[in-house]
Amino acid sequence: MSQFRIAPSILSADFARLGEEISNVIAAGAGLIHFDVMDNHYVPNLTIGPLVCEAIKPYATVPIDVHLMVKPVDRIVPDFAKAGANIITFHPEASDHIDRTLGLIREHGCQAGLVFNPATSLDHLDYVLDKVDMVLLMSVNPGFGGQAFIPAMLDKARAARAKLDAYKEKTGRHINLEIDGGVKIDNIGAIAAAGVDTFVAGSAVFGHPDYKAVIDAMHAEIGK
Ligand code: DX5
Ligand code: ZN
Repeated sequence: MSQFRIAPSILSADFARLGEEISNVIAAGAGLIHFDVMDNHYVPNLTIGPLVCEAIKPYATVPIDVHLMVKPVDRIVPDFAKAGANIITFHPEASDHIDRTLGLIREHGCQAGLVFNPATSLDHLDYVLDKVDMVLLMSVNPGFGGQAFIPAMLDKARAARAKLDAYKEKTGRHINLEIDGGVKIDNIGAIAAAGVDTFVAGSAVFGHPDYKAVIDAMHAEIGK
């Protein structure tokens, strides 16, 4: 199995047929289901919560990757764990106690991750890597699907991969590096070359009539 995973963001799916949409992207080769939670407070948009996560769980035969764009973070973590989340990531700006939130996510049986906005420094990782399973780099400002990839995030991905490689050298533990925003067939190769292994793609997948064609084309670009 490929070490690279495509994580379709259901933000761009047809919400009236969500279960079917999820089954279809998984059949087309999705490695994760990316679940965007927005609260109209931390980000200027409002989406879905634990009830919807629970409703899609029976369809999600791959892990559910919950991206919390909410503030505060901690009180919603147990609800998502109960609703079937497998990975929960949050923004350091939205938590008063990053180390505590990471621990809380793991205590609830999920993998934990930190999300970095385009202008947020990777320094937040320095003292918490032992509690991190996934680093998510935003390659757009969070809040909406369909925005353009910010090219400076390629350098940031290389810097993040270097940090994670140095950590692996010391501990033997691999931490996934995910990117979110504006990922398309024509830029995914360069993003993979910068060290990313997990690719969120919303509009690129759900905006195309043939999900398998897009996901296959993305894997082909990564494999080049
Ligand atoms: C943006 C969300 C993304 C979004 C990506 O805040 O976190 O997951 O759905 O959508 P695309 O792939 O269309 O940029
Ligand atoms: Zn997201």
